[in-house]
Amino acid sequence: ILFVGEAPGYDEDQKGVAFVGRAGHLLTRMIAAMGYTREEVFIGNILKCRPPNNRTPLPDEMATCIPYLKRQIAVLQPKVIVAMGATALKGLLEDPGLSIMRMRGKWLEYKGIDLMPTLHPAYLLRKPEAKADVWEDLKEVLARLGREPPKRK
Ligand code: URA
Repeated sequence: ILFVGEAPGYDEDQKGVAFVGRAGHLLTRMIAAMGYTREEVFIGNILKCRPPNNRTPLPDEMATCIPYLKRQIAVLQPKVIVAMGATALKGLLEDPGLSIMRMRGKWLEYKGIDLMPTLHPAYLLRKPEAKADVWEDLKEVLARLGREPPKRK
């Protein structure tokens, strides 16, 4: 599974690793709830460096970085891509008009690879009531891979 976010934040910029701050901690727990470890999936971003003041990436910044992500996908050949948030969805499908709120939970395709759009973990930190929707999306991903979430201990 390839999880795609938006861009590194402060913590990611310091460490050179995607999703290692607060949103990353939640993502790690989401991955664990699915029955995987971070080492068993790949976590990447649309942008490879942090936009000033964490602002939303500009179209030209996305266009600069997306060829790199495309190469990553070609090398990784993921079975499923989880696009987390509007930037990942718009960037991967190269359609700035897409709405993550309207598209989440609906299977799409990126170059023949199943793509599930869902909400970004940073959004879930602000709106925990949306976690149930994201869990539905992640269970869809598991079902597509022929897996079930592990029983909670
Ligand atoms: N948010 C993202 O979109 N990516 C990260 O790596 C961290 C936070």
